[in-house]
Amino acid sequence: MATDSYELPVLEVIEETGDARSVVFEVDESIAEHFGYRAGQFLTVAIPSDQTGVAARCYSLSSSPVDGGPPKVTVKRTADGYASNWICDHVQPGDTLRVLPPSGIFTPKSYDADLLLFAGGSGITPVISIAKTALSSGSGRVVLFYANQDEASVIFAPELAALAAEHPERLQVVHWLVSVQGLPSEPQLRAFAASYSTWDAFVCGPAPYMKAVTDALKALGFPRERRHQEKFVSLGGNPFGDVVAAAQAEAEIDAAEHEEGPPDGPSVPSTVEVELDGVDYRFDDWQPGTKLLDHLEAKGVPAPFSCREGHCSACACRILEGEVKMLQNDILDDEDIADGIRLACQAVPVTEKVKVTYH
Ligand SMILES: Cc1cc2nc3c(=O)[nH]c(=O)nc-3n(C[C@H](O)[C@H](O)[C@H](O)COP(=O)(O)OP(=O)(O)OC[C@H]3O[C@@H](n4cnc5c(N)ncnc54)[C@H](O)[C@@H]3O)c2cc1C
Ligand code: FES
Repeated sequence: MATDSYELPVLEVIEETGDARSVVFEVDESIAEHFGYRAGQFLTVAIPSDQTGVAARCYSLSSSPVDGGPPKVTVKRTADGYASNWICDHVQPGDTLRVLPPSGIFTPKSYDADLLLFAGGSGITPVISIAKTALSSGSGRVVLFYANQDEASVIFAPELAALAAEHPERLQVVHWLVSVQGLPSEPQLRAFAASYSTWDAFVCGPAPYMKAVTDALKALGFPRERRHQEKFVSLGGNPFGDVVAAAQAEAEIDAAEHEEGPPDGPSVPSTVEVELDGVDYRFDDWQPGTKLLDHLEAKGVPAPFSCREGHCSACACRILEGEVKMLQNDILDDEDIADGIRLACQAVPVTEKVKVTYH
């Protein structure tokens, strides 16, 4: 099953740096209800491809949901990449792009909390949205540590300078240039973050940078619920089409069964209790081998998702009781799993009763 996609006209294309462009979309009032978003969320864009028909890629919204402006994503060219270069080379105002509605869980629960933000390169896109939204709609302080290769590659430099000037008491931006200071090391990041050890941390950037920041935050005792990370990966499948998604799901189950035998679990339907957005659901007919997300969608539950492939974590939920087995997981680490976090798009039942929450 796939979610509905929408053709959005491109209002504007902004050259941010030599290798990054923002694409501003127009959202007609008739579909506006599908495009409300929280700071830190992303759109999934269908990029036309001669090889595969569509290449699906996620792009974080760099706009803020509270300033009344249109949604905007910012795309940085990936060396030898397909979709990012296609967008930077081809997309013009007046074009339309097919997108899935906003999704993702890289979002602060409260803008009154103090936020410690780490961005590296294009990882600034969800982070600037969080910063702008917190400054206009919350009361907390914001500290941003922003690492880039050199001055020319700093996306949103003027916008960040303007924000810092507008909110001198609440926003501090620290730029780190690798060309000048080298890669920020874990001890350097730890020394920086030590003054903010009670704040909520958000991290987005290249994998080695995210690892260094995460190691620093762990060393400082930041608990899992105050360490949020967004990993930029490319989707392999196509969440835009029912046929492809269903065929792919079957293929994944076949592959899992081929490699590991049939999924462990009961041979009878399981009971699942779900807490989502303040609503409690209970279903007694979760069939063996059926993914939790598919089951909830079949019941009309608006469970979050994006890639459906175990890549993005938009579907992450927490197990409160019982156990599930994930057929694929490219994003959760051992600590996430120990904390009970699971990917609903990949979770099949292992016990006859399972209780999960999306909080
Ligand atoms: C939640 C999330 C948010 C993100 N936000 C951002 C963001 O704000 N800004 C940003 O810049 N990036 C963001 N990304 C990363 C983005 O989704 C892409 O991973 C990135 O742009 C690189 O994609 P690419 O196709 O250019 O490169 P790659 O994925 O490296 O391109 C190579 C891949 O494309 C395939 N390919 C090559 N040619 C073709 C073809 N003709 N047709 C089909 N496939 C082909 C190859 O097989 C290979 O798998 C985000 C990712 C996630 C998961
Ligand atoms: S929807 Fe992306 S990991 Fe489940």
